Amino acid sequence: MAASAWYKEMAVYQIWPRSFADGDGDGIGDLRGVLEKLDYIRDLGVNAIWFSPLYPSPNADYGYDIADYKDISPDYGTLAQFREVLEGAHTRGLKVFMDLVINHTSDQHTWFRASKESGDSPYHDYYFWRKGRGKKPPNNWLSVFEGGAWDYDEGLGEYYLHVFAKGQPDLNMANPKVREEVKDIMRFWLDMGVDGFREDVITYISKREGLPNGFPLPIGTGLEHYTNQPSVKDYLREFRDDVLSRYDCFTVGEAPMMTPKTAKQFITEGADQLLNLMFHFQHMEADCILTDWIPTPFRLRKLKKAFSSWQQGLRGVAWNALYLENHDHPRIISRYGSEKYRVESGKMLAAMYLLQCGTPFIYQGQEIGMTNIRLDGVSQCKDVVTFNNEKLFRKFGIKGERFLRLVNRRSRENARTPMQWSAGANGGFTAGTPWFPVNPNYTEINAAAAEADPDSLLHWYRALLKFRRESPLALYGDYREHNKASRQLYVYSRGREGQRLLVICSFTEQPVRFAAPLGFDLLHATQLFGNYAAPETQSNQFVTRPYECRVYGWL
Ligand code: GLC
Repeated sequence: MAASAWYKEMAVYQIWPRSFADGDGDGIGDLRGVLEKLDYIRDLGVNAIWFSPLYPSPNADYGYDIADYKDISPDYGTLAQFREVLEGAHTRGLKVFMDLVINHTSDQHTWFRASKESGDSPYHDYYFWRKGRGKKPPNNWLSVFEGGAWDYDEGLGEYYLHVFAKGQPDLNMANPKVREEVKDIMRFWLDMGVDGFREDVITYISKREGLPNGFPLPIGTGLEHYTNQPSVKDYLREFRDDVLSRYDCFTVGEAPMMTPKTAKQFITEGADQLLNLMFHFQHMEADCILTDWIPTPFRLRKLKKAFSSWQQGLRGVAWNALYLENHDHPRIISRYGSEKYRVESGKMLAAMYLLQCGTPFIYQGQEIGMTNIRLDGVSQCKDVVTFNNEKLFRKFGIKGERFLRLVNRRSRENARTPMQWSAGANGGFTAGTPWFPVNPNYTEINAAAAEADPDSLLHWYRALLKFRRESPLALYGDYREHNKASRQLYVYSRGREGQRLLVICSFTEQPVRFAAPLGFDLLHATQLFGNYAAPETQSNQFVTRPYECRVYGWL
């Protein structure tokens, strides 16, 4: 049995500040906007907010390229306003987590600027500066975002490494001075009262000595030399011992390509726990290969396998982070659900993940069922990944309309449209001109309409979160998957001290015959949740309606 802890019982709301709420009418979300929405967040029933980066940034990657770790971007407000938000959140019982992006800085950060002044600069070794191999870059690594992973600096006659965009030079974490800077940043925010961090691509922060060539691939060359190197754990241990262990704080690390087995090296509870939770990507690959941009038909069995292996793999030793959306993925209803059955499938997806064992994260707009946008052209796009893929896919003959269709289905742009607050102008997001198009479906899909409709997704999220919060069974119960072979139904149960829950989720609009697993007598259960009116008489078998979800309890 896992020990209880506050972070296990919380639910977290993620804010991507640029598109959340604009308080000053300049078309960009800001802290004034957040301040006005704190009651909305509290009323959802979460206990924490994770802010995607709020720091000053030239926005090569919308804040994930940080120019100053100890300030707030003028786009979003001031440090004083941040303190107000922090206090307002704390007063409402909401913890606040910052995004800690330490794999790289912005190329506009003073460290990077100083690092390229000369090879003798004390900052030179903060980054990876190397001579080329003749006219070629120092090795064959590819950037996750933009062509090669090296960029040449004429002045210095050296290349610098950027695993992500050109404007995101990688920090050399092997340099103890860089680690001192990281600790200093952590202390700065923790001393201000911040409650923890979401640590961006944390398993990338160490590079193999000598930066050897990677196995050549069309994408991702070099990955094996910068993912999950042994020193990542040493660095995390140092951050924990010198800083984090001295505060009652929380950490969740983002870790592409993570498996439960490897995750346990970081999040196993006990004396050498390095992070509280880890974001993995395995359940985000049920309709694609490696990246969202290489789509396949949705395969429920792949999804179930991913969830179950994490539920079972971490059982009793570590704790899951549960999410379906964030700023890096298209909207979940448009992916694993159905825009035609938007509310039904949205409710089903919410119950499917919120009732598993773990700490749930909810991304802004997910709770009102926002969907993907249909942009008119790539000229409307804003994301470096879209621009990079435009070049990449062109090589494979995918361009024009075909590429745009892919963007509208698969890009991160979909997650970054402004939050839809009302049916008023610009969805109530701004009184000015929004920095990025509001999805025209805001007239129908918005928080005000959801508030007014007792059957809305918003009320469903609130009810599920309340149930989870108050139920030791939902929080700590064990997990068992049923009907494993089904390609349409995801069925699992939770159990604790003689109490049980059965969660039945249909992933299709087709009718599917469901028969309760042995030992689960629906006739003696209470139906706790259902996204359709409950049947008058229960039976141990039923035929599902489109994207139907039912939750039965033996309490
Ligand atoms: C993480 C962030 C993503 C960002 C990348 C580089 O994956 O979630 O938004 O682009 O790291 O910092």
